Amino acid sequence: MIIPELRWLQPEWIYEASKLEWDSLEKFWTIEQFESILSNKENKKYIVPLVCIIDDKIAGYNIYKLCENSYNIINLVVGSNYRRQGIGSLLVQNLTSKLEESKKHHIRIRVRDTNEDGCEFLERVGFRFSRVVENFFKVYAKTGGTNLKQDAYEYILRKSDLVS
Ligand SMILES: CC(C)(COP(=O)(O)OP(=O)(O)OC[C@H]1O[C@@H](n2cnc3c(N)ncnc32)[C@H](O)[C@@H]1OP(=O)(O)O)[C@@H](O)C(=O)NCCC(=O)NCCS
Repeated sequence: MIIPELRWLQPEWIYEASKLEWDSLEKFWTIEQFESILSNKENKKYIVPLVCIIDDKIAGYNIYKLCENSYNIINLVVGSNYRRQGIGSLLVQNLTSKLEESKKHHIRIRVRDTNEDGCEFLERVGFRFSRVVENFFKVYAKTGGTNLKQDAYEYILRKSDLVS
């Protein structure tokens, strides 16, 4: 039986986290992005880097920011070998329990407007489409485009929508 465990990301795991196998359009973070976000002094107070461990390996992560009224998910990823086993749901449930106990109102996430699977997942775990945020993501084009931007779909999960 698989027993996933949620833990705080340790600096020595950054390499493994950045190497999670992926096969989707959503761009995962590089080591440099992990390091720059997690080593920033200001960020340390507000960023929670949570990883899901299975058999001593990183299966996924949820990195989110503590904001005044919300938890803002910055990066939610499950490695391609671990998908459709409830790990993404577990990472979201962990945050919804925190939401229930806190004074915050909602959880927010933004995904690329081309990420249909991500949107289906979000709706399945209780998020609702909120709005389009224009030019939110950088496009990592192989075709030489440098300053291309892509719209994001913003999804919100409100405390008031949680069934207790
Ligand atoms: C989106 C993602 C986090 C889902 O993680 P996961 O661990 O596979 O999700 P779960 O197993 O908890 O899925 C719960 C439900 O969401 C829906 N779902 C999950 N992945 C889906 C997909 N690829 N297509 C359609 N629906 C999907 C299903 O209804 C699923 O239930 P089911 O397996 O019983 O049918 C994962 O696919 C991922 O890391 N994708 C790349 C990164 C990404 O897109 N991040 C953006 C954040 S949404």
